[in-house]
Amino acid sequence: MSGKQKNTGYKKNALYMEGVELAHIAETFGTPVYCYSATQIEQNYDAYRKALSSVMDAKNFTICYACKANSNLAVLRLLQKQGAGADIVSGGELQRALKAGIAPGKIVYSGVGKSEAELTEAIRRGLFQINVESERELELISKIAVKLKKKVPVAIRVNPNVDAKTHAKITTGKKENKFGIDISKAPALYRRAQKLKGVDAVGVAVHIGSQLTSLAPFKRAYARVAELVVKLRRQGNDITRVDLGGGIGITYKDETPPDLYLYALMVRDTILQLGVHVIIEPGRSIVGNAGVLLSRVVNVKQGTGKKFLIIDAAMNDLMRPALYGAYHAVLPCKKSSSKTVYDVVGPVCETGDTFLTGERLPAMKPGDLVALMTGGAYGAVMSSNYNTRPQPAEVLVRGDGCALVRRRQTVEELMGHDIIPDFAA
Ligand code: LLP
Repeated sequence: MSGKQKNTGYKKNALYMEGVELAHIAETFGTPVYCYSATQIEQNYDAYRKALSSVMDAKNFTICYACKANSNLAVLRLLQKQGAGADIVSGGELQRALKAGIAPGKIVYSGVGKSEAELTEAIRRGLFQINVESERELELISKIAVKLKKKVPVAIRVNPNVDAKTHAKITTGKKENKFGIDISKAPALYRRAQKLKGVDAVGVAVHIGSQLTSLAPFKRAYARVAELVVKLRRQGNDITRVDLGGGIGITYKDETPPDLYLYALMVRDTILQLGVHVIIEPGRSIVGNAGVLLSRVVNVKQGTGKKFLIIDAAMNDLMRPALYGAYHAVLPCKKSSSKTVYDVVGPVCETGDTFLTGERLPAMKPGDLVALMTGGAYGAVMSSNYNTRPQPAEVLVRGDGCALVRRRQTVEELMGHDIIPDFAA
C-alpha cells in the first residue's frame, strides 16, 4: 500500500524513519511536519551515480539535482556534499543552490520564462549552462553576455513531440506544451546562435515530463535528440553536451518505475555514441521516497454513508492530491489490526482538500498520528498559506538523530507581510 520507503517502516508496532520514531518528531516539533531521511536521499543520489558510472566515465556526466522537487537548504547541502550539481528554474533557486555551496560551474538554469534580471544574475555567476527556451531568450542572453563581456554556454531545449504518458499537468514534451522549441525548427535556431557573440551553443536539452514509469518515451525522445545532434554537427555546431532532463518516476502506490541500470543502458544505446557530456536533472526520484508528511488526527466524523478521518495536514501543506489526483498512502504511526474505511481529509474549506477516498485503514481516533507517505518531492516546496495556515516545519533525520531544518511559520509572520494603508485605517 505504501510507496517503497526503505528507510521508513514499522519497528514492532511503531513507525520509524531510520532510527527515529516518528511520534517523537511529532511531539518535539508539532504537526503537520515534513520529515526527510538523509540516508535515503544519499542512497537515491548514489543509485544514479552508480548506474550512470556503469556505462560511462564519471567525468562524462553531471547529475544536476532538480531543486524544485525540494529546495530546503539542508537537503541541497546534503546533495552538494555527495557531489551533485543543481538544476534551477528561478533566481530564488539560484540563490539557494549557491548558498548550499553548489559551485556555479555545476548549475544548469532551465525555465520557460526567465526574466532579464534573473538571466543577468545567472550570467554574472558563470553557470555551467543556460537552457534556452525561445529565440528571443537566446538573443537576450547574448545581448546581456556581450555587455558583461562573457560568452555563455547554452543548450537549446527542444520539444521532441513525445508523449511521456504521465499526468497531463506534468507532461512537457508534446508539441502543444509551452516548453522548448519544436525540434524541427531547432537547426535554424542553432544557425542563428552561431552568429551571436555572447552565446556558445554547446548542448541540446530535452525534458518530456515527470513521473515517467516506463523507459519507452525517454528512449524515443533521446533518439530524436541524437538525430538532431548529428544534423547540428553537420551544419557546423560543435555540440558537446546533451541534457536529458528529469529522472525516472517513483512508487507512490503500485507503479513499477524502470530500473536505473536499464535506464543507463538505454542512455548508452541512444546517446553515448555521440561522445557528449551527459547531464541529467532528477528531482522526484532523489527526494520523493525519502520524505513523509506527519500529521495528527483532529477528528473522526461520521458522514452520510462514510467516515471522515480529519487530519491537521491539508491541501495547502501537500497539494499533489488536490492538484493532480495524486495518491499518497496514509500509514498510522502506531500499527493496529482493526480496519475501517475512511475518506482522509484536511481542515481546509474545500471538498478538494481530500487525501484519500474510501481507503481501508487501521481504525483511528483523535490525537493519533499518521504519515502521508512519499512526500519528499513536490511537497513542502508547493505548500501555501491558504486559510492562513502557516507552512509546516521540516525535519531531517539521520540515524538516531534528527534536526529541525525549517521552522514552522507563525501567523504573526504571515500577517507581517500585510499592510493596512492609511485610507483604510
Ligand atoms: N528538469 C526540468 C526541466 C523539469 O521541468 C523537471 C520537472 C525536472 C528536471 C525534474 O523532474 P523529476 O526528476 O522530478 O521528474 N509538481 C509536479 C511535478 C512537476 C515537475 C516539473 N518539472 C508533481 O508534484 O508531480
